[in-house]
Amino acid sequence: MAIKRVSGRKADELRPIKAEVGIIPNADGSAMFSFGDTVAIVAVYGPRQLHPQHMQDPSTGILRVNYDLLSFSVSDRKRPGPSRRSTEISKVIEWALLPVLNIKDFPNTVIDVQIYILQADASTRVAGINAASMALAHAGIPMKNLVCAVAIGKLDKDLVVDVDKDEEDFEKGEGATDFPIAKIANSDEYTLMQLDGKIQPEIVKKALEMADKACDEIYEIQKKALKEVVEK
Ligand code: CDP
Repeated sequence: MAIKRVSGRKADELRPIKAEVGIIPNADGSAMFSFGDTVAIVAVYGPRQLHPQHMQDPSTGILRVNYDLLSFSVSDRKRPGPSRRSTEISKVIEWALLPVLNIKDFPNTVIDVQIYILQADASTRVAGINAASMALAHAGIPMKNLVCAVAIGKLDKDLVVDVDKDEEDFEKGEGATDFPIAKIANSDEYTLMQLDGKIQPEIVKKALEMADKACDEIYEIQKKALKEVVEK
């Protein structure tokens, strides 16, 4: 029997996506990306000289990501400021984006990527990656390709694409598994794979196939948003 999702979506159906580039005039690059009620905005500044000067590295530039889940983005107000969770997510997003950047071409500099989650309904790190990837391209930073990301979930035994909060909180049977994945578009190079919960090795392949298909859809939307700003 086909899986019943609270939202009524099919197993491989993404939430409605909105993507826009160039939303913050003073940033070098900016973008918003939303999966349904999960909304991420990103501002990119740089590459610019890194200060304090002793932190500069003449052999490479530095990518510095800051992910922030804003206090009123969730129903239980979140304490403002950094947390272990935001530090971890900032780091994994950095690692997810670095493989598409030729960061060594920008010695002594820093590229700052500020990610704000304005509204959270799960899958915020992957929404942040999609927005950050567009914002880096908008900043004119040479990239091998865009990075596309989505979270695959497992509800009991069924795989679903683009996990929302109801699914994240699913408690029946084996419970919910959240499997966020990022990949370089049009390739089979994955740059982020995390797992919160359990997944049987034999269904990982199926989960990756679902992520690939979703990422193809996301990539088209990202490209369209970038083209729109170029045409303007
Ligand atoms: O957002 P993502 O799925 O990447 O990361 P998570 O740590 O698995 O968080 C899942 C969801 O829990 C978030 O998207 C929020 O909707 C919610 N959350 C929350 O309500 N309060 C927090 N302090 C942290 C997360």
